[in-house]
Parts: sequence; C-alpha cells; structure tokens
Amino acid sequence: MRGFRSDSYGDAFADVYDEWYADVTDLDATVAFVAALAGPDGSVLELGVGTGRLAVPIAARAGRVVGVDTSRRMLEELARSDVDRTVTTVHGDMVDDLPDGPFDVVLAAYNTVFNLTSAERQQACFDQVAARLAPGGRFVVEAFVPDTADGGDGGDGGDGGDGGGSTSPRGSRVTVRSMSVDAVVLSASVHDTAAQVAEGQFIEISEAGGVRLRPWSIRWADPAELDAMATKSGLVRSERWADYDRSPFDASSARHVTVYSLPTRGTDVASGTVDASGAAAGLGNAAQVRTSLGQSL
Ligand SMILES: C[S@@+](CC[C@H](N)C(=O)[O-])C[C@H]1O[C@@H](n2cnc3c(N)ncnc32)[C@H](O)[C@@H]1O
Repeated sequence: MRGFRSDSYGDAFADVYDEWYADVTDLDATVAFVAALAGPDGSVLELGVGTGRLAVPIAARAGRVVGVDTSRRMLEELARSDVDRTVTTVHGDMVDDLPDGPFDVVLAAYNTVFNLTSAERQQACFDQVAARLAPGGRFVVEAFVPDTADGGDGGDGGDGGDGGGSTSPRGSRVTVRSMSVDAVVLSASVHDTAAQVAEGQFIEISEAGGVRLRPWSIRWADPAELDAMATKSGLVRSERWADYDRSPFDASSARHVTVYSLPTRGTDVASGTVDASGAAAGLGNAAQVRTSLGQSL
C-alpha cells in the first residue's frame, strides 16, 4: 500500500486495539502458557508488544519482560495501562532494533510476524530472535493458518470476521465490521495469493467524527514455511498446538501456536527434542492444513 510504513498499523489502531481485539484470543491461557515457559525468574521479549495486552499480565508472573514496538502510539497506550512500569519498552523495529539477549522466551503473538511484509524480513526476524535466545530458550509464534481456497489472507483483516467472499488468487472484498445508528465501520481489503500478501483499511464513518481510516498490511506464511525459516535460523520446532490451551493441532485448525527452541549444546537437532504435539505427523505441511478459514489479523 502506497505510503504504508511499519508504524502505520500501530499508530492507526492504538486507540481502539484493546476494545476491538479484547476477545480475539484467550488472554489467561496465553499468559499462563508464556509464563510457564519462562518460569518465575525468566526473561521474556515480546515482538510487537502493542498496548501491553499480553506483556503486562505476563510481567506479573515472569522475572523480566521487554516489549518492542515500532508504533509510538501503541507504546503510549502501554505506558498508560502499565502504571507500575513492569514492562521495559523499546521503540523500534522487531528485526533491526531488538535489545540484546539472552531471553528465555521470545513471543510473537497474534499474527505479529505477518506484520513484516516480506519473506526476507520474516526470515531476518527469525535470525535475530535466534541470536538472542538463551540456550534452550523458546520462540513462541501464534498465527492464523492461511487458507488459499479463501484468498489466504486470514479473513477480512482484523476482527475475526467471516473471511468469506473471494476465492480468486487476486481479489478484494468489502464487509461491515460494525454498525449503529450514527456510525458504521467498513472493512475493505485486497489480497494476492501468489505473493501471500493482503492489505486493507477499516473505514469508520460517523456523524460526529466524519471519516477515519485504519490501514493494515500483511504477508502471510503457512506453518511449513515458518518451520523452514526457523530451521534456517538454527531453531527446532518443539511444540505445535491449535491454541494456548494446548488443544491438538490438526488439518482443521484455523490457528497455531508453535514453540521453536534453540538447542542446548550437544542436542542432536536431527532427532532433536521436537514434536510434543503432532509435529511428527507432518501437520505443518501446507498441503495438509485446513481448507476453510474465517480468521483474523
Ligand atoms: C497484531 S498487533 C499485536 C499486539 C500485541 N502483541 C497483542 O497481541 O496484543 C501487532 C503489533 O506489532 C507492531 N508492529 C508492526 N510492525 C512492526 C515492526 N516492524 N516492528 C515492531 N513492531 C511492529 C504494531 O505496532 C502492533 O502493535
């Protein structure tokens, strides 16, 4: 999208993020999952920390939490809610500006890896994370499973919307996100399945406020591609679940929560510590992932 920058999404969504995305994932399960991996004294780095929706409650249960975000407005929201300053924030890019490690856990929740809009930047992110993990440290990636039969973009861009509409390799759709007597929020998006990219705008029209635009842009990757990036960075997949409650991941899963580990010295990566959860069954393979999807950014 012409003019779109890495902080465009965050700056545009900061004021509504916690309201619009309050129910997108199970907050308690997410926090418990990450805190258990880190341990009470462990260190956690969250990529794209946003408003601190996750980082603030994680900080109550882990030793140290650092959050990186390119959006000043997101970090201002975080500062407002984190009154005790439990999360250390870094204003910067999740590839180029990561703080020095080592970290016990790095978290990229809720499709945040897809905010990097090229395969090269996503690979670079895996490389930078791997370089900052402690031996045995974990990289937790949560993302939607692309459904190319439905355009692949994970739905209409932000709210767990219907995802239905276009089945063409390139296409566009307009849906209604919410409506009241004096306001309507429309979602307009375009996708290119071959390029694995989608972008869009939430268009808020109200009597009182006129028109407000909230742009987004993603490059999606299926679980197998993410696994390949991790392998290239020297990480091994140790778990894959359908959610943070550790529900089994299978071909019908709309989302995945994957844990990649930095092998400790002497670990045999080939036989590895991997596969607590269906990874051995090859469920990360794109050809085996689910075929219908109505999910969100
Ligand atoms: C989908 S939101 C997730 C926010 C938070 N992790 C959560 O789950 O509530 C993605 C976040 O990543 C940030 N972001 C996008 N591109 C980024 C980049 N290149 N570097 C750092 N942060 C980025 C956005 O500003 C936004 O806060």
